[in-house]
Amino acid sequence: MPSITVTALLSTLTLTIGLQVVVGSQTTKESLCVATYVNTDQAVDMVSSLVIGSQAAMIIDLPMTIGKAKELATWVKTTTDKPLVAAFTSHNHPDHYLSGAAFFEEFPNIPFYANSRATKEIQEDAPKKVEEWSGVHGVDNIVQNTTLPSPYDYSFFALPGDEDSPVYLIGPVTGDTTHSTLFWIPSIGTVIAGDAIFGYNLHMYLSDLVTHALTESWLATLKFTAGLNPFTVIPGHASASENGSFNGVRDLDHSYEYVKFWQEDIESKGPDYFTPSEIFNKFTSRFPDLLINRSPTAFNRLNITAENFGRGGKRRPPLQPLWTFNNTAALNGWIL
Ligand SMILES: *[C@@H]1O[C@H](CO)[C@@H](O)[C@H](O)[C@H]1NC(C)=O
Ligand SMILES: *[C@@H]1O[C@H](CO)[C@@H](O)[C@H](O)[C@H]1NC(C)=O
Ligand SMILES: *[C@@H]1O[C@H](CO)[C@@H](O)[C@H](O)[C@H]1NC(C)=O
Ligand SMILES: *[C@@H]1O[C@H](CO)[C@@H](O)[C@H](O)[C@H]1NC(C)=O
Ligand SMILES: [Zn+2]
Repeated sequence: MPSITVTALLSTLTLTIGLQVVVGSQTTKESLCVATYVNTDQAVDMVSSLVIGSQAAMIIDLPMTIGKAKELATWVKTTTDKPLVAAFTSHNHPDHYLSGAAFFEEFPNIPFYANSRATKEIQEDAPKKVEEWSGVHGVDNIVQNTTLPSPYDYSFFALPGDEDSPVYLIGPVTGDTTHSTLFWIPSIGTVIAGDAIFGYNLHMYLSDLVTHALTESWLATLKFTAGLNPFTVIPGHASASENGSFNGVRDLDHSYEYVKFWQEDIESKGPDYFTPSEIFNKFTSRFPDLLINRSPTAFNRLNITAENFGRGGKRRPPLQPLWTFNNTAALNGWIL
């Protein structure tokens, strides 16, 4: 018995990692596989995950700009010939849904979902986000009439024909914002983490951590995720060089260390204790490897943290009333 289990486990692992082998050929009936696409440049290295089953596929997270949404659609069509039956977004940030409508032009009539709280927040925020990001990328590159997700509150879903390999929706949990969903696929030991987890060689987005409770709650989500003991963790953002080599610990450990560093060395000193450049320098001393390739995205996230929390810095006022999330026990309602 144990040796059969190990063999099954190993073949699952091979399918997940050696994706090229799977694409275009038949997968074993009971195995899902996950292919990832790193949406670079304007899409700020956001990772979309394509879950491919025996008869159908679904996708998690859609990019901010129209150009990137079209690029993603092309990739999906070349990666699987199974029909795409749904899209989900992991949380309410615009880099995970804003130009979804351009993607849906290539895959008409498929449902788009998020958990009901994220759905409500997206509905409230989308018009402001369209305005803000049209100012950055141009009105021609941001969908003006946002396709909003519908609320999906089942605690799991299955692709047709793969009812024995469900995908569990774990949430609402705190990641880089409130009300995030983790997608957990026990049959292949894979967590699709959205922005609860960032790639090991990236700075993280901390701008929503306006209360100690949000920080503490994010750390609890990371401990919980580690407890799942995953083979593969797919982060919400990753450098293109990491694509295809996600494992179960590297990005998770990085994310934990990064948020913990924020909590202990910066947040704990109280608001406005450091200047923006002091915060910038503290992170670059502690994580010297993260700016090595000097991509604008790499600089940007750290710059946002530094300016948002540094004395006299340029603030990003949150659209949602994040400062009301000041109670860790309430945020971590999943801990009884
Ligand atoms: C990333 O890896 C997938 C396989 O999972 C591949 O299909 C895709 O083209 C790669 N490239 C990018 C840019 O994500
Ligand atoms: C926006 O999209 C919705 C749904 O796709 C559609 O019903 C509506 O007519 C569109 N509105 C405009 C102004 O284009
Ligand atoms: C953040 O970027 C802005 C615009 O480039 C710059 O003026 C500011 O000095 C940067 N802040 C830090 C702390 O590096
Ligand atoms: C926490 O937020 C609530 C609103 O949700 C507010 O009434 C309360 O004063 C806040 N408490 C602290 C300590 O900031
Ligand atoms: Zn993101």
